[in-house]
Parts: sequence; structure tokens; C-alpha cells
Amino acid sequence: MVDGITVIAVDGPAAGGKGTLARRLARHFGYAHLDTGLLYRAAAKRLLDAGADPEDARAAAAAAREAGPADPDAPGLRSAAVSRAASAAAAHPGLRRALLGRQRAFAAAPPGGARGAVLDGRDIGTVVCPYADHKIFVTAAPEVRAARRCRELRERGCASIYARVLRDMEARDARDRTRRAAPLAPAGDAFVLDTSAMDADEAFAAALAFVASRAAP
Ligand code: CDP
Repeated sequence: MVDGITVIAVDGPAAGGKGTLARRLARHFGYAHLDTGLLYRAAAKRLLDAGADPEDARAAAAAAREAGPADPDAPGLRSAAVSRAASAAAAHPGLRRALLGRQRAFAAAPPGGARGAVLDGRDIGTVVCPYADHKIFVTAAPEVRAARRCRELRERGCASIYARVLRDMEARDARDRTRRAAPLAPAGDAFVLDTSAMDADEAFAAALAFVASRAAP
């Protein structure tokens, strides 16, 4: 705990359920929540809208500096094209540096005077907040994650084809895991939560039990 602020880091591959879990933990403890993937998505969308190439390191870093706070409901942020571009652009150290300060500031001084922050992403426990009080790495079998993402997309009114979602997701995970800058990996002291056979309630209960076990004197 730094300055009385508790930080919970929730990391994991695409569609593992980290966003749902992070939101529920934040609500339960009265903490602020930041979906850091949205920052990467907003930068990627800015790049695509400008006709720039997400592989272009300089353009990617500039887009990250210029993109304002990401609105979770902004149209198009969850599209397959933006997901791919976000993963490509996220491999550039310059873009990651441009987003680091915003994430750390959120964790250090959560908005609304909250006494804690829950951040979800890929490198929260390893790079953004290595001092986090609790680190949870949420994962699930690729087929389970692809099925969840399809359901989520359909609920948002987007057509989705399972095989394509699975292929895109595996390609993105492979890139996120093997990039040199802040690769996706559980921190050494993270609780690895495999939600393949769990629903959202069970995953939440397991995460709460982990936090409670560590809070004991
Ligand atoms: O929702 P989903 O898990 O599919 O993805 P996301 O969390 O919105 O992240 C989109 C992309 O941004 C990821 O594939 C990563 O390449 C990148 N990202 C990252 O590199 N570091 C983070 N802390 C969050 C996202």
C-alpha cells in the first residue's frame, strides 16, 4: 500500500474475463477501475482514423500522446480491426511510455477520492504497478475465451464468427506474449486464476478469497 491507496492488478490474455472481474472487485471495495486496454484501443483507433500504419513506431507514440481519456462506449473501440491495430501498436516501447504516466497517476491518486484502484491489462503487475498489493492473472483456454468474446460481440450487436474470433485472438495473444516491451506474463507473485470452468460469479469469489487470504494479519 502506498500513501494509503490499495492497488489491485488484474492481467491476462484477451477475453479471459479480467475486465468483468476488475469491475466487480472495484465495485465491491469501492475502488476506482481503469481498463488500460481502452487506452491502447483509443490510440489504435486514432491511428486507423488518420490512415496511419500501427506498425509505424513514431505515429503510434504520437497517437498515444494525443488520444484523450478513452470513453468505454465510444463506437468502434471494440472492433476486430481496432483490436489488431492495438496489439500491433502496443509492441512499440514509445507508445507504451506515452501511456505509462496516465496509468500510474490513476493508481497513485484514484479519481473520486477512492482509497484504491483496480487496473486491468497485460503488464499492470509486472511494469505499471509492480508494487501492487494484489496481483491476479486471469486466464482460460483459448476456445473458452473465443466463445465468451463471440457472446460479448453479439450482445453488442456485432456479427461474429467463432473460428475467426479464435484465430484473431490467438494471433493477438501470441504477439502480446512475445513482444520485447512489457510482454504479457504473470508477475512472479501473481495469483493465476484459470476461469475455463468458472462463471463470472465463481471467478469473483475465487479472487475475493485470494485478496482476503492476503489481507489476514
Ligand atoms: O479486451 P481484450 O482483452 O480483448 O483486449 P484489451 O485489454 O482491450 O487490449 C487490447 C490490446 O491492447 C491488447 O491485445 C494488448 O496488445 C494491448 N494492451 C497492452 O499491451 N497492455 C495493456 N496494459 C493493455 C492492453
